[in-house]
Amino acid sequence: MKTEMISTSDEQTKEAVKAAVAILAAGEVVALPTETVYGLAGNAFDAAAVAKIFAAKERPSFDPLIVHIGKKSDLDRVAIVPEEIKIVVEKLANAFWPGPLTMILPKHPDVPDLVTSGMPTVAVRLSANKIFSSIVRELGQPLAAPSANRFGRISPTSAAAVFQELDGRIPLIVDGGACSQGLESTIVHVQMGEKRPLLTIMRPGPITKEMLQNFGKVEKFRAAKDPSKPAAPGLLESHYAPNTPLYLLKDPSDFRPEAGKTYALLSYTGEGQYVDLHHWRAVEPLSPGNGKLPEAALRLFHVMRRLDAVGADAIIAEPVSEVGLGVAIMDRLRRASTTV
Ligand code: TXA
Ligand code: MG
Repeated sequence: MKTEMISTSDEQTKEAVKAAVAILAAGEVVALPTETVYGLAGNAFDAAAVAKIFAAKERPSFDPLIVHIGKKSDLDRVAIVPEEIKIVVEKLANAFWPGPLTMILPKHPDVPDLVTSGMPTVAVRLSANKIFSSIVRELGQPLAAPSANRFGRISPTSAAAVFQELDGRIPLIVDGGACSQGLESTIVHVQMGEKRPLLTIMRPGPITKEMLQNFGKVEKFRAAKDPSKPAAPGLLESHYAPNTPLYLLKDPSDFRPEAGKTYALLSYTGEGQYVDLHHWRAVEPLSPGNGKLPEAALRLFHVMRRLDAVGADAIIAEPVSEVGLGVAIMDRLRRASTTV
């Protein structure tokens, strides 16, 4: 299959939206920009279209997809929100939608089981990306869309990265430029706790624990010890991984280069102890100079992809401070890492 790439600069935006809607309406899949990472979208109510998403990504069918709605009032088309959490769901939607928050809620029977991997819950999000939202609204159907990478690999934050991942496997990529957040949405399971709503963070992301605390009791999901039962497959320990082995160090003294091997450094600021430690094949800073977490989040997958291409024997990653957005960055670095 030939993969077309369509730009969204100026007058071409309308045309891109029209082309994407036509392909989606015909039951095909299209890669689209969102504010977090690029998604591979298909009509969420069309099981055959959803099957094409799994096939293009080589994604195992036990890993459920996020359903993207075009407006808040469409939530009831994909989820059945229990009475006792109606208020908190509305508050969360008003605070963070459109934006990088995904809520796990009881599923509506109209959503095909393939989308949710047979689970009784569905993951729902409302993207803030203008092109994405025009497309989902014009189509008039919710879009199932996982990140537009092959399974287990680095999420794409540009159209070029999608092309690298899925060339020849999908008919169209809509180029909306670089993603503005760069990390996947925060996934929260919303339930009623004993006294207050219970918000379980299944995947940390741009909406941090601190930002959720006003809405209920926030806890971090702990995977069951039984590895044969991943409660949420996004929690698979190996994910977001480059081809080059990546080692996340705790301390510069943990780096012991082997003779004859070359190393690339994924640095936080591009300065300091880690940089001085070695003659690196390449150094890529996440946040050049002053180490700002939002900038680091934005650049993480882009920088990982670049370092993967320099031909080093290993990528050494420097840790970032694990506060706020740093929690999500460290989560992705750990999963990308060869030594979890
Ligand atoms: O920012 C994002 O969330 C991006 C953009 C494209 O929207 N999407 C994304 O999708 O990251 P994906 O498929 O790469 O990751 C979604 C994760 C999966 O790991 C899956 O396990 C989890 O969401 N998930 C989906 N439905 C779930 C459910 N019902 N219960 C628990 N986890 C679920
Ligand atoms: Mg993904």
